[in-house]
Amino acid sequence: MERYSFNDNWFFRPEWQEGSENISKDQAASFETVRLPHTVKQLPFNSFDQDLYQTVSTYLRFFTVPGSYHGKRVFVRFEGAGHQAEVWCNGRKLGCHRNGYTSFSFELTGCLKFDEENLLCVKLDSREADVPPFGGVIDYLTYGGLYRDVWLEFSGESRITDVFIRGKADGSFRCSVESQKGSTDTLSLDLYDQDGRKCYSGEIGLDGYLADTAAGIDVWNCDDPVLYQAVVTLCRGETELDRMSVRFGFRDAEFRKDGFYLNGEKTLIRGLDRHQCWPYLGYAVPARPQRLDAEILKFELGCNAVRTSHYPQSRHFIDRCDEIGLLVFMELPGWQHIGDAEWQAQSVQNVREMVTEFRNHPSIILWGVRINESRDNDAFYTETNRTAHELDDSRCTGGVRNFRGSHLLEDVYTYNDFSHCGWNAGCEPKEAVTSEPDKPYLVTEYCGHIFPTKPFDTETHRVTHALRHARVINDIAAQKDIAGSFGWCMFDYNTHREFGSGDGICWHGVMDMFRNPKLAAAVYASQSDRKPVLEFSSTMDIGEYPAFMLTSPVAFTNADEVRLYRSGVFVKSFFPSPEYASLAHPPVFVDDLIGCLLESVEGYDAETAADLKTVIYAFVRYAEGPMGDDAKAAKKRLNEAGISDEVISALQNRYMTYWGEDRVAVWRLDALKGGKVTASRTLTPGRKMSLHAAADTTVLCEDGSWDMATLRISVQDEHGNIQPYCQRALKLETSGAIELVGPDCVPLTGGMTGCYVKTRGIAGEGKLSISADGMDPVEISFAVTVG
Ligand code: GAL
Repeated sequence: MERYSFNDNWFFRPEWQEGSENISKDQAASFETVRLPHTVKQLPFNSFDQDLYQTVSTYLRFFTVPGSYHGKRVFVRFEGAGHQAEVWCNGRKLGCHRNGYTSFSFELTGCLKFDEENLLCVKLDSREADVPPFGGVIDYLTYGGLYRDVWLEFSGESRITDVFIRGKADGSFRCSVESQKGSTDTLSLDLYDQDGRKCYSGEIGLDGYLADTAAGIDVWNCDDPVLYQAVVTLCRGETELDRMSVRFGFRDAEFRKDGFYLNGEKTLIRGLDRHQCWPYLGYAVPARPQRLDAEILKFELGCNAVRTSHYPQSRHFIDRCDEIGLLVFMELPGWQHIGDAEWQAQSVQNVREMVTEFRNHPSIILWGVRINESRDNDAFYTETNRTAHELDDSRCTGGVRNFRGSHLLEDVYTYNDFSHCGWNAGCEPKEAVTSEPDKPYLVTEYCGHIFPTKPFDTETHRVTHALRHARVINDIAAQKDIAGSFGWCMFDYNTHREFGSGDGICWHGVMDMFRNPKLAAAVYASQSDRKPVLEFSSTMDIGEYPAFMLTSPVAFTNADEVRLYRSGVFVKSFFPSPEYASLAHPPVFVDDLIGCLLESVEGYDAETAADLKTVIYAFVRYAEGPMGDDAKAAKKRLNEAGISDEVISALQNRYMTYWGEDRVAVWRLDALKGGKVTASRTLTPGRKMSLHAAADTTVLCEDGSWDMATLRISVQDEHGNIQPYCQRALKLETSGAIELVGPDCVPLTGGMTGCYVKTRGIAGEGKLSISADGMDPVEISFAVTVG
């Protein structure tokens, strides 16, 4: 099959007029010309009317097919159209697709004119009509547009329509091929390794099926995700008529009673839920940012899994999950609401489309075949399960519910466990939730709306958020019969007015919408040993705390010791908290800011120093109530030994409030592993603030679509600490081969923000400048190639 990108030169209008399927090119001149991926409406960051993108739009594409293609069959393939697409070619209706999250294609052959202009017309309904996921309320925006790639495809009369290959860790595989072919045509299979070396060849039976074993293969796993290419060739005699190539892996993914096993090895799933949205553009981004999200999850957040809540997500994202070894739980579109029989039939069709489209991806380990958090509906879910199993007998099904004792029609009881509220256990025991504890069990959401957290919330709030995530993943790891968990969620997202904080955002992420990390991100990042991690919960500014009570900041690190220094002098060593012993790297509570200083600097003996500390800490906590008996007794002993209240108060001033001879303390935290410093942080009120911008790439490439770079921007002090309460306005300017996505003036939110620059069809250099009052501007150059 030959195929060409069909992403450019679309005419767009955010409305529909009867007869548009027969419009002439002259009449289309009043339309906007757009390139795909495209959103029907670019949106503000927050605080906007959720109905802005709810419209019926017209997309037109004029095109000519050379006469040399005469005799070929021609198809148009849409990888995604949000949400209901009616398609015409030269005025003839081809059909309607009623699912915004899967690909579909229509044959154009019969209505196409060769060497003449043809018109493809799409009437796209992005309103929330009565098809899944719509019909009830939904906690996320659903956007609209031809937001994924579109292709023009050519094949001969005989063609391969589908290849499904299931590889197992022992090298055995089963390959099923669907084709439209002549009775004497033959099908064969070749397997190629990552270096393009052929490692297997075989003939496919008349029934389109081949099961065999390939020798010497490498398995796909999370650390070494080895991929293979399966090439199926359709021949008539010696002549090749068609070929289809799919990527897959050899691996065993099994859910057992006591957990998840990858290639026979018990693997605790630790992941986050992810929506596929971005500020301004909604769903409509090209491959690069999709791939970047997978990389962030794996390499920055140290996760080994993701749940594509609550719909099948971009092939580009899933491709990257395959390549880097990130496990995927993919589910059908839906949110709590189950509609009527027609709605349910569409939902079963959605399962069919999801499984057929994505079943070759080795990263996918589980199909979600139940509308997220819906009530039991045995007839409906018997059918979704049957459909998934019939199309893919190699994977388990799950179905996300949020209540106990639900009828388990799936293979895995997948459960949103929001029971943790800060002081209790991090999760419910499996047997309290399901009456079938012998079946596999997986937690699919926690935290989220239970504790929304903005990057500019108080330190105390942000620490609580982080510790809740830590508590849940610790307690899940401690239960030896839970396969793992997905936390809600990877990043904040725009939502409907029934949800969120009144500004159209659910601030539920461990990252913000630009994928800037909040403190909770460090809980996940610190579980991985890939690179040294040391995040600290506090800026050590006492004024942030009620009555200056900066008493127990927390370090999130993958080191085994944290040493604290005050203005260069050693204070104390701190160690991972035994309360989180099921984590590879528990949080480290830095709960003594005086440490040994009363001895080492002030020269007191150990007992006096201990009494002094007791009294000083009691003073600091005085706002909470009167001094306790211990402190009173310690103070009495000190006074009796001639240490006056004035002396104690001066020491308190020096060591807890820090206004003293040296004005403010300079704190340093060193993270040590095996006695060696792996990371270090310096904290003291900053003097020089500067703008920082990190681009995911400075080389952009148009290859069938526009390209886009992601910039994460922050204001940091001279020690590299983000200033969480710096809200300054930034000016963004582009020139040359790139343009800005979104507004050119943005505020910092929690000391951070982001921006996106996109290519505009021309090669060359593009420049982005970011500036703010009182700080040096940042300039970034991008090299753009086209074609
Ligand atoms: C869940 C739901 C998610 C999201 C989350 C917020 O109930 O499945 O989509 O709304 O709550 O915590």
